Amino acid sequence: MATTFPEGFVWGAATASYQIEGAVCEDGRGESIWDRFCHTPGKVAGGDTGDVADDHYHRWQEDLRIMKELGLGAYRFSIAWPRVIPDGTGAVNPAGLDFYERLVDGLLAAGIEPYVTLYHWDLPQALQEKGGWPNRDSASWFADYAAVVSARLGDRVHHWITHNEPFVAAFEGYGNGEHAPGICDPKAALQAAHHLLLSHGLAVPVLRQNGDEGTQVGITLNLTWVDPASERPADVEAARRYDGALNRFFLDPLFKGAYPADLLAYARDMAPHVEPGDLLQISTPIDFLGVNYYSRAIIADDPKGGPLAARQVVPAYAELTEMGWEVYPEGLYKLLRRVHDDYRPHALYITENGCALADRVVDGRVHDERRIAYLREHLLQARRAIDEGVPLRGYFVWSLLDNFEWAFGYSKRFGLVYVDYATQARILKDSARWYQQVAAANAVP
Ligand code: GCO
Repeated sequence: MATTFPEGFVWGAATASYQIEGAVCEDGRGESIWDRFCHTPGKVAGGDTGDVADDHYHRWQEDLRIMKELGLGAYRFSIAWPRVIPDGTGAVNPAGLDFYERLVDGLLAAGIEPYVTLYHWDLPQALQEKGGWPNRDSASWFADYAAVVSARLGDRVHHWITHNEPFVAAFEGYGNGEHAPGICDPKAALQAAHHLLLSHGLAVPVLRQNGDEGTQVGITLNLTWVDPASERPADVEAARRYDGALNRFFLDPLFKGAYPADLLAYARDMAPHVEPGDLLQISTPIDFLGVNYYSRAIIADDPKGGPLAARQVVPAYAELTEMGWEVYPEGLYKLLRRVHDDYRPHALYITENGCALADRVVDGRVHDERRIAYLREHLLQARRAIDEGVPLRGYFVWSLLDNFEWAFGYSKRFGLVYVDYATQARILKDSARWYQQVAAANAVP
């Protein structure tokens, strides 16, 4: 028996510019914070960099052929800000826009709908030198960049995602320093988060103005289902704090126009400076919410930590992926229900879901049964949410290709397509063949 999805359900796959493009010095691209971070010794596993990555900048036509072969209805990719505006503000680099225009035109000619993310973490280094996201000016830098991109592509791109996972950009980039620009300053991280949200709010009307009537604008958040590690009040409180920082700190301002009061109280003097009107701007209505879901979080109190401290626990019985993340498909259902019940977005997309496995090529094939099972189980949970009225419109596998997994370098493979980094050969994994059937049948076998 197959589980059918609603007519018109969007089947896609996702990537991000810095993780796949390479060609970091070509055709006028400026430096990004990730170039700088990768070339700082000790920051990325194995000393890996995105200098070449999947060489997608040169091989995009081959990658497009693969998407076509898989029968994808949509492709989510991101635009590298420093390719378009090398210094972040000011002069536009036409060659950068040309690249994305060719890609968009190629997708449309293949019948694949582009879902374009404007910011997937590759801030121009020149803007970091002006303070980066903790600088309030970052909000208008981003809105200006959104205007440049949408002026060129707004007649053909009908789905815009302003930001990808502002939580990660703010808290890992400026809070714990595990991502670029590698700054460890929790107060700066909260301020960065506020400016990321503000920049989103400023960009929404710009994208609408440069598009036609059908233009849909949204934002992608990394959300998770949070369970306390025990019923001890301290653990329950810690889980609530964690949910506050990860989920509500972003959902509340976007959909309710306010930061969660409990979180501001915990943050105390780390709470961001907010100016009058900011929250109104941030809560500008959007057309859809993108949800990235990988795993749940089981949270225990951490008495040694600061005001937002929480410790993640992994149960001994859990099935783990190569990232050490628990496989917990039911969390996707619970999360979708919760977001729908508490925030009522007009529409939802799962903009990322997938798993890293220790994939191996054997006789030219990659037998990734565990990925098929992972995708299958998560899709069935998504279907369950749809049955209960959640307006879920589409699903994007992370990722189309194995790629540069940030601080983990090339050591983690998330792709439907295996990439041999020595030769840049692409090999369709069994999961890609499976997903091809899902997309064709609009059903999970
Ligand atoms: C993300 C990231 C991706 C990661 C993926 C796996 O949006 O977190 O968008 O870039 O590669 O999540 O960790």
